[in-house]
Amino acid sequence: MHPWFRTLTEEVRDSSLTIEGSVPAWLDGTLVRNGPAHFDTATGRVSHWFDGLAMLRRFAFDDGAVGYTNRFLRTAAYRSRVDGDVVATEFGTGLTSLVRRLVATVLSTATDNANVTVARLGGRYVALTETPRMAVFDPETLLTFGERRFDDDVPGQWTAAHVERDRERGEVIGHTVRFGRESSYHVYRLRDGTRTRTEIARIPVDEPAYVHSVGLTDRYVVLPEVPFTADPRRFLRPGVEAFVDAFRWDESRPTQFHVVDRDDGSVRTVDAPPFFFFHTVNAFEPADRDGVVVDLVAFEDASIVDALAFDRVERGVREATGDLRRYWIPLDGDGPATGRPIAEHVALPRIDPVDRRRPYRHAYAQRTGDVDTTGLVRIDVTDGTETVWRERGCFAGEPVFVPRNQQSEAGRDSVVRDGSDDGVVLAVVLDRDAERSFLLVLDGSTFEERAHAWLPHALPLGFHGEYFE
Ligand SMILES: [Fe+2]
Repeated sequence: MHPWFRTLTEEVRDSSLTIEGSVPAWLDGTLVRNGPAHFDTATGRVSHWFDGLAMLRRFAFDDGAVGYTNRFLRTAAYRSRVDGDVVATEFGTGLTSLVRRLVATVLSTATDNANVTVARLGGRYVALTETPRMAVFDPETLLTFGERRFDDDVPGQWTAAHVERDRERGEVIGHTVRFGRESSYHVYRLRDGTRTRTEIARIPVDEPAYVHSVGLTDRYVVLPEVPFTADPRRFLRPGVEAFVDAFRWDESRPTQFHVVDRDDGSVRTVDAPPFFFFHTVNAFEPADRDGVVVDLVAFEDASIVDALAFDRVERGVREATGDLRRYWIPLDGDGPATGRPIAEHVALPRIDPVDRRRPYRHAYAQRTGDVDTTGLVRIDVTDGTETVWRERGCFAGEPVFVPRNQQSEAGRDSVVRDGSDDGVVLAVVLDRDAERSFLLVLDGSTFEERAHAWLPHALPLGFHGEYFE
């Protein structure tokens, strides 16, 4: 089995990593990543990568040194799995994780296995998944401090783990989905320092779609409703069997971009040819046209969901890879939205946080599509030029760009964006032959390696992380 998908039980604290090369001394914050790391049950293995237990991984930078800590979230899901009481938390083997999570959600036993990402919300560090149950953790020790839920009445049994932060307006934007006899999407804002969300818009829907992230511009929230949808009546019936086929791909239906005005909550909907996606990359409003540009990683259909089940990933099956696409969404009534490809074989895209909601130049992503390596790519979205880091036998996770001046976002009108990318790209890479992982530090402007910091073990593939000052 590929070591990316093996259970790791070892936890270490403040391990000083052996470094080859040099880590820049200006890098003095902390990268915290999240992802599944425990895939075993008393009766075998979970069937889907998404179902592994959440492990936080912390990289603390100090004057060129890197300290490493990894720790499982101590959740009910962890106790149940590790104590062997698996039946209580596993909902029918063979179901895809997405379906299983929704089953759990609708049955009011939403999983607390918050293994998708981390964020600072309402002054607390939290681990997030697609149910409303967040785990609070200590960013120094990674100790779990218990569960947190929002203190408000925004409905929804399902919530995207991804939120969009707008530092200038001091808020975070996200969305929930309410399944019921009357189903709806709810776009909300969460003011910094509070734990009370406010609903910006409610969008009724007959059959809710799986929407993993939204796009954000200064004026709009863009919710791409893909034609991978579930009949909510299935969730209202008792019995697990009815949920297996809850989501289905219907390519006869368009993808619909719901464009929500952040100030007055009005919604305009623009159709596009059908596609599936997990991650938006960036969004902005051009100065000279009435509409929105949304960049995202698109798939031809939703087969990627099944392709991430263990029986497929372990064989190295890669039928479905994503394309970085730019969609133009006109808001003057002038026709459907149109998309054009910028790059192929990409996943887990990131940008310099300074570039959010602005015309920008560089996106960073995994380079997928090869069974012998997963590289990293920097894409110039203005002309499609690529710079690739890749080593045979090495498998890189999500690349996080850290600008040299983190504070520049607040005063970025005065910052000249020349595309020089003064900063570093951080990614965890698994060396398959060495059976160990390392933290890779790439120079942001040249995309050349500056340092390797070897971990004491092989880390399973994670999802997302954030760099905190
Ligand atoms: Fe994600």
